Amino acid sequence: MSKSELVLVTGGAGFIGSHLVEALVNEGYRVRVVDNLATGHRSNLGHLEGRYEWIEGDLADFDVCLRAAEGVDHVFHQGAIPSVPRSIREPLESHTSGPTATLNMLEAARRSKARRFIFAASSSAYGDTVELPKHEAMFPTPLSPYAASSWRANIMSASMPARWAWTASACVISTFSALGKTLRARIAA
Ligand SMILES: NC(=O)c1ccc[n+]([C@@H]2O[C@H](COP(=O)([O-])OP(=O)(O)OC[C@H]3O[C@@H](n4cnc5c(N)ncnc54)[C@H](O)[C@@H]3O)[C@@H](O)[C@H]2O)c1
Repeated sequence: MSKSELVLVTGGAGFIGSHLVEALVNEGYRVRVVDNLATGHRSNLGHLEGRYEWIEGDLADFDVCLRAAEGVDHVFHQGAIPSVPRSIREPLESHTSGPTATLNMLEAARRSKARRFIFAASSSAYGDTVELPKHEAMFPTPLSPYAASSWRANIMSASMPARWAWTASACVISTFSALGKTLRARIAA
């Protein structure tokens, strides 16, 4: 990744996204953030004000994705609503912020000829396993709308670029529970 290139972080006001934005900005990359603040907070990026470009918008809106992807070289797709209880209450929201938003973002990135798309996958896709720790070779058995949405979005991100005559490389980084500063009380949410 060259430092003159533009990096888009979707969900950049969230827990992981904001740390990623901080790391990229501190490394000298040009960074754009798109977020609808569904679970994220602008204050997570407060200390970086003026050092990144901000777009407030919903990735379920394809026009927002097109605007966010304009001129972008790399996409870190962190945007999602990662709450199992909330997804059980609001399965449609879970789907639109998962597979729908991911498909929109993939297509927008393809149109803008982004070279890399990096999806944030979730260990929730593997359900409740007897074997621990979980790993990516396990058979997916999602047990909630969030887990199913995340798995669907994972499959799309991993397989589509190669089949779309899009020369970008795609990769999936699976998070198996991240903890740290600015993580809100998600268990209760
Ligand atoms: N934190 C973990 O332990 C963990 C584990 C597995 C996977 N993940 C994945 O990592 C990613 C980031 O997780 P996080 O813990 O930082 O969550 P988070 O809720 O703190 O961040 C997600 C961000 O996405 C934004 N967002 C949600 N829907 C959006 C939409 N439709 N349009 C625009 N922005 C939207 C939210 O406002 C928020 O800022 C998610 O995709 C999640 O599934 C996280």
